[in-house]
Amino acid sequence: MGKVEIVLNSLPMSGGDGPNSYSKNSHLQRRTTSLLKETIDKLILEKLNAKTLISDSNTFHIADLGCATGPNTFFLVDDIIKSVETSLRKSNSSKPEFLVFFNDLPHNDFNTLFTSLPQHRSYFAVGVPGSFYDRVLPQSSVHMVVTVGATHWLSSVPKEVLDKTSKAWNKGKVHYSNAAEEVVKAYRDQFGRDMEKFLEARAKEIVSGGLLVVGMCGIPKGMPFSNLADSIMYKSMADVLTQMQSQVVLHIL
Ligand SMILES: C[S@@+](CC[C@H](N)C(=O)[O-])C[C@H]1O[C@@H](n2cnc3c(N)ncnc32)[C@H](O)[C@@H]1O
Repeated sequence: MGKVEIVLNSLPMSGGDGPNSYSKNSHLQRRTTSLLKETIDKLILEKLNAKTLISDSNTFHIADLGCATGPNTFFLVDDIIKSVETSLRKSNSSKPEFLVFFNDLPHNDFNTLFTSLPQHRSYFAVGVPGSFYDRVLPQSSVHMVVTVGATHWLSSVPKEVLDKTSKAWNKGKVHYSNAAEEVVKAYRDQFGRDMEKFLEARAKEIVSGGLLVVGMCGIPKGMPFSNLADSIMYKSMADVLTQMQSQVVLHIL
């Protein structure tokens, strides 16, 4: 069998709305969004002075970073809009207009995202292709940024884990479950560098007094990753990928 080349960094969420698409197979991510709803409502009501923020334009700007193809992003945006409207009603303000920036990497299936936008939505929609580890929006242009289940995607594989001469070499494995502490540290450090870039970019884009909500998987402090159910799942997935590697050439960029 001939070897097939797969370039990993060009692999977006599975597009379209067929049986194998992201839009039909993202119930778990939808659950994360539902779990966050109460916290987001509370933050909007208690921390965001929506009335002051929109006093000039009467337009409230929201960005969802790493939105994929939908539909989870639509539920999230609807919930945010309802909360902002509630907050404005409480301060006797008039109903604003809403502008939503949908961001993801350029290879994301934005066509599916836009063709499945809810027909009776209460917002204007804009697509923003680009990495959220860089600037994706103009300075002070957005009142609320949210990202769910996306910031655990590192910008790149830490180079030490691919270096056979490094203590952090991960022996060709694609996951750090049960790996040496040096490997875990290499991934942790990469996350730290990425998060710094993420926060620097958002600090420029979000207006003063705006809100940033980051929803992502975590782990109780001190618990080894190998104790998590996720670890077992990723270990099996890694085994499958390693087997596939004997038949295909994987470029991890
Ligand atoms: C698991 S999906 C989550 C999608 C959506 N937030 C949800 O809850 O259903 C993660 C998304 O993050 C996007 N993503 C990963 N890294 C990114 C980056 N650096 N910039 C923008 N989007 C990114 C991926 O392309 C993918 O669509």
